[in-house]
Amino acid sequence: MVEDLRKLETDAKAELSQAADAGILQELRIKYLGRKGLFASLAARMGEVPASEKPEAGRELNRVKRVLEDVFKEKEASFLGAVSAAKAIDTTMPGTFFEPGRVHPLTRVILDITRIFERLGFSVVDGPEVETEHTNFEALNIPLHHPSRDSFDTFYLENGKLLRSQTSTVQIRVMEKARPPLKIIAPGKVFRPDATDATHSFMFHQIEGLMVDEGVRFSDLKGVLLAFAKEFFGAKTKLRFRPHFFPFTEPSAEIDIYSEKRGWLEILGAGMVHPNVLRGVKIDPEKYTGFAFGMGVERIAMLKYGVEDIRLFFENDIRFLKQF
Ligand code: DAH
Repeated sequence: MVEDLRKLETDAKAELSQAADAGILQELRIKYLGRKGLFASLAARMGEVPASEKPEAGRELNRVKRVLEDVFKEKEASFLGAVSAAKAIDTTMPGTFFEPGRVHPLTRVILDITRIFERLGFSVVDGPEVETEHTNFEALNIPLHHPSRDSFDTFYLENGKLLRSQTSTVQIRVMEKARPPLKIIAPGKVFRPDATDATHSFMFHQIEGLMVDEGVRFSDLKGVLLAFAKEFFGAKTKLRFRPHFFPFTEPSAEIDIYSEKRGWLEILGAGMVHPNVLRGVKIDPEKYTGFAFGMGVERIAMLKYGVEDIRLFFENDIRFLKQF
């Protein structure tokens, strides 16, 4: 009996070491450890073992059972390990594809516009989105009672500060620190309490421009804006200057761009920096003059790419963003 058990052990181990997959392992388990397997039939013969040999045969029976269970478990684990290792480096699986990232269309337009102005000698500056009433209004010649303040009025914070309603604030920040000659361009977000629709958003982007020096004339403004428009929209581009009112410039104009498809469309406001603004930042308006302009980035992006609804820029729909 003891010898038969040991033979069973050696046979089982030998066969098991040859088992190449989980299917074969399962067959061997049935063959050796199944209810009608080889081990069970040996165990059934315990009754025939003479009483004197019984203790040893019983010990051996238990030992072989434990050993067999262990080696089966081990073999099974080795298959599981092999399967997961194979999974990790399965070169027949399709690879993970990372979509190349891209720049948001508004960022694209801001970069393209600022690059053109950089080539014209303007430096790009940044200003805060949280501003003071002084910088957003008073310093720009918009006193508290002034009616034009209504259309610019904006979101106020509890500390009396506000979200800037125009990038013209950056003109003030630059002129409070630096002296002419100044040539800057300032892109950024602005905020207004406008109801959202196809052409309005409570948050949008502007690019502000400012040039202050001795002898800067309105014709310089025209020359710079025309150079920009031809570079950005194409050599055949035409601009139209319409007289307008802005508190911080005098004279002021709204500027339209012509396209075959849409006719004239307003793209920016501009003018000669108001003497009150220059005086406020202690620049002598008798000595220095300047021009300023502010354009709406979404407007320009919509015109350039034929986008019909401003909300598309902010909804983060990948199908839209992918096209740029
Ligand atoms: N800040 C004006 C707006 O938000 C745009 C503007 C007009 C800016 C004339 C200027 C300017 O610098 O000179 O509507």
